[in-house]
Amino acid sequence: MKALDNILTRTSSSILKAPCPSEEEMNLVYKAALRAPDHKWLRPSRFIQITGEGLDKLSDIFFNFGKNHVKNISKEKLKKYKSIPYRAPMIIVLVSNITKHPSVPDHEQMFTTAAAAQNILLALHALNYSGIWRTGVFAMNQEIEKSFGLGSNQKILGYLYVGTPDGKIKKIPPLDIKDFITKIE
Ligand SMILES: Cc1cc2nc3c(=O)[nH]c(=O)nc-3n(C[C@H](O)[C@H](O)[C@H](O)COP(=O)(O)O)c2cc1C
Repeated sequence: MKALDNILTRTSSSILKAPCPSEEEMNLVYKAALRAPDHKWLRPSRFIQITGEGLDKLSDIFFNFGKNHVKNISKEKLKKYKSIPYRAPMIIVLVSNITKHPSVPDHEQMFTTAAAAQNILLALHALNYSGIWRTGVFAMNQEIEKSFGLGSNQKILGYLYVGTPDGKIKKIPPLDIKDFITKIE
């Protein structure tokens, strides 16, 4: 697929099934991720790739968070937390490993990881897979970060659910670029 066509046709898929990309394919995907713009080349992005029994471990992390840290959580909600990781055969946890730097503030390092996430979604699309970036209560959450053994400088920006799209590919809404562009000439 041509590069621009790939960008223009990418959509997120909320229903994802097996197969997920092979190790060889994921090597390309991570290389693409690491081509995100990166002020001072601080390399803040880290990726935790979860598949197979790893999904059970993530399910335990979400369940224990709900049980131990959400006041008056209902049984239904706890059940939901437990089931969340099984929505895709692979999950990539997006982590920004933030280094204190005099000219690169924390948020710029998180922007780099966000750009890496988009590169991942585009690379997946180019390889005929799909994904969706989800956050919710489990992102930017110190308790969850501790469950992964992350330090206080390591922020979870979200979760990319990855796999083969199952179901209809959604229609891309037509947008009038004029609504988004101001030209100063
Ligand atoms: C930072 C961020 C967080 C998001 N969190 C969620 C989320 O928790 N749940 C969800 O359904 N979509 C979430 N989305 C939106 C989807 O990833 C997706 O972009 C949206 O459904 C639009 O689909 P499209 O990418 O095909 O245009 C998030 C997007 C971003 C950029």
